[in-house]
Amino acid sequence: MPKTIVMYCLMRAFTLLGVYVLFGCMGEGAVQADTPVGKANQVSIEHYPVSPIGNAPGASPQTRALALSLGAGINFGNMLDAPTEGAWGLKVEDEFIALVGNKGFSRHVRLPVRWSNHASTDAAAVIDPEFFKRVDSVVDRLLAGGSTVVLNMHHYRQLDGDPLDATDLSVDPSVVRVRFLAMWDQIAQRYAGKDDRLIFELYNEPHGIQESTWNDLLSRAVRVIRKSNPQRALVVGPTLWNSASALEKLVLPPDPNLILTVHHYEPFNFTHQGADWVQPTKPLGVDCCDANQAALMTSLLDTAVKQAARLGYPIFVGEFGAYSLAPEAARIRYLRLMREAMADRGMPWYYWELAAGFGVYDPAKHEFRTNIKQALFQP
Ligand code: BGC
Repeated sequence: MPKTIVMYCLMRAFTLLGVYVLFGCMGEGAVQADTPVGKANQVSIEHYPVSPIGNAPGASPQTRALALSLGAGINFGNMLDAPTEGAWGLKVEDEFIALVGNKGFSRHVRLPVRWSNHASTDAAAVIDPEFFKRVDSVVDRLLAGGSTVVLNMHHYRQLDGDPLDATDLSVDPSVVRVRFLAMWDQIAQRYAGKDDRLIFELYNEPHGIQESTWNDLLSRAVRVIRKSNPQRALVVGPTLWNSASALEKLVLPPDPNLILTVHHYEPFNFTHQGADWVQPTKPLGVDCCDANQAALMTSLLDTAVKQAARLGYPIFVGEFGAYSLAPEAARIRYLRLMREAMADRGMPWYYWELAAGFGVYDPAKHEFRTNIKQALFQP
């Protein structure tokens, strides 16, 4: 570049627009700013490098201790994970937050959040400040009440190649994965100062087109989160909707503060009978739990425990449950069996979910469904 232009660029660079203009004068792409600015749709996934290559060292003592402190948990499902809060008939009510930590109920919450529908559609995926404040208020109240909180990213439909829900934002395919990382960068920075009882879970049930790309994306996500949260516990699960059988394909970055998760809805034709979001809908009237069903249930837990030991990290069951259309007595048998089987294997768990179709709590009557609550949370 001629000297006069260099001078001009330097002068401008230190006036109004700062460093970004300086880079502009030097030619496009010469230097990439650390935060995506301008040309947001052109930010490539390489802006977010993978974690250093190396063997995962196994869990640190502090992450093992944190995992041990988890126990019988509850998912705040169908609230902030709906396309917008309330769209699936539930909001995070003060009443729900007040239940947490009460005697005979859980003090461990998994909080599913559909961030992708509350962020700009470009690669920068700037999260709506009002939505951030809403999540802040839920997280802060749960933490203040003494709860542990697993805060996740849920139902970013395009990430898995799934059809969108009616009011979901549609984004250009070229920015889908980079948005995931940009959102985690923001979430991680925002909550970096929170108590260690706040745990981040990278993504709910990766599946579909993520079967071959999840290990790469999670490696990048861990790295970007580690910039602001060097030691916070991070939860990662395998593909196939967090199936224990996919743990053998999971590749972990060399990070000592990871916790593994699986979801467990077998026998699926029992737990999801009549559920209209499963197509074709499973017929009603399926019983549980005969010897074959019980063997299926426990063998998946055994796989999870074995794989977690191989990988060197603690593991919990982030979701299990039976839909309300399953026969009542069988549902209770299923819950007891699962609860005992997970306890026998030292696995913490989170029931799916608080107050919707699987709910342990009846939001219309403002009371617990006693039989489900007893089966899950009482001696
Ligand atoms: C999904 C829910 C669904 C549940 C049981 C969860 O992972 O997020 O929408 O109700 O699984 O199928």
